[in-house]
Amino acid sequence: MDISQIINELGEERENYFNAISPPIAQTSNFAFKTVSDLSKAFEDEMGGYLYSRGLNPTVEILRKKLAALDGAEDCLVFNSGAAAIFAGVLANVKAGDHIVSVKAPYTWAQRMFDIILPRFGVTTTYINGTRIENWEQATKTNTTLYYLESPNSWDFALQPLREVAVLARSKNITTFIDNSFCTPLYQKPIEIGIDMAMQTATKYIGGHSDTLGGVLSGSHAMMKKIFDSEYLNIGSGIQPFNAWLLIRGLRTLPARIDRITKTSLEVLKFLKSHPKIESVIFPLDESFPQYQLAKQQMSGACGLMTLVLKTNKRTEIVKFCENLQHIMMAVSWGGHESLVIPKCSGIPVSDFDPSNPEHRYIRLYVGLEEADYLIKDLDQAFEKMIK
Ligand SMILES: Cc1ncc(COP(=O)(O)O)c(C=O)c1O
Repeated sequence: MDISQIINELGEERENYFNAISPPIAQTSNFAFKTVSDLSKAFEDEMGGYLYSRGLNPTVEILRKKLAALDGAEDCLVFNSGAAAIFAGVLANVKAGDHIVSVKAPYTWAQRMFDIILPRFGVTTTYINGTRIENWEQATKTNTTLYYLESPNSWDFALQPLREVAVLARSKNITTFIDNSFCTPLYQKPIEIGIDMAMQTATKYIGGHSDTLGGVLSGSHAMMKKIFDSEYLNIGSGIQPFNAWLLIRGLRTLPARIDRITKTSLEVLKFLKSHPKIESVIFPLDESFPQYQLAKQQMSGACGLMTLVLKTNKRTEIVKFCENLQHIMMAVSWGGHESLVIPKCSGIPVSDFDPSNPEHRYIRLYVGLEEADYLIKDLDQAFEKMIK
């Protein structure tokens, strides 16, 4: 289906609500029944109709249809955050004694789940350098049930060969899960490549305005039903109607924002690469990126996030650079209208800072919707003040 149709029409039944262009927010916790037999049917299959908004809700349904179609998936579930979507998708596919193979350094709260929560239930995880298919094969054990991917990673942008991992997993009856937040389904469609479940934090580009959280988990209808009937209803972390409405609104402008951010990112990247205070810039669709060929094969674009390594060994200079930015703010997250930086060293105790480890010197830059010149001037003046 055409992307414009998905965004502007799919799932919307305007004649049922006064032909309003913008859908109503069904801000209700529960739904009434006229007959006991209808109520009984709703109890039997909560995914089949409206009973209670911890399950289905009409505003969320509009969003759900659009997001599944964007992912090219049979179905999806929308959660109150990306972290909740990860939690439910992983939990539904492991039991005591199972083993997960995951890319190294996945998103923080995925890693905490693997390191802290799952071991309490006898589920173990092996982290690998996921860039090479041999590493997946070697780490697989007889009790491996899940491969966890994040391609690209949101700091160093390491990619996994998605098609090869999907084929290997299928041959071993292992379920595959990918965090597709960096690309969004506009720039990468893992389900069409053969990955079983694609997750993205809707907090980022889908919402686009830094005013709501959300998470999307897409896959087969059977997989989504399995998760809906257990983790989704039990954790109770489905998205709320108002937040779903904000995400529908965000979707209306998603392609336009992604397009603009892509263009601005390339201008900012060009400036940074030529700046004397920059050691390197990591960006998956830059020719200097080690997996550039693979990125071109499996992604149709990249935007927004890039990682800078400054030419300095001093933490104080990294701090000065970040603190001297006048317009680009320092905050977690990305995908909104506002440009942001976050230095890796903010999460490392000062005494542990090791300048010989380039990762300690990483600064992640998110390019938002501002004019390119405005951002470049801001970066330039912060470079000037770095050593003063
Ligand atoms: C790559 C990635 N995956 C998942 C998440 C989790 O999403 P949320 O913050 O919506 O829970 C984030 C959030 O920063 C992220 O950057």
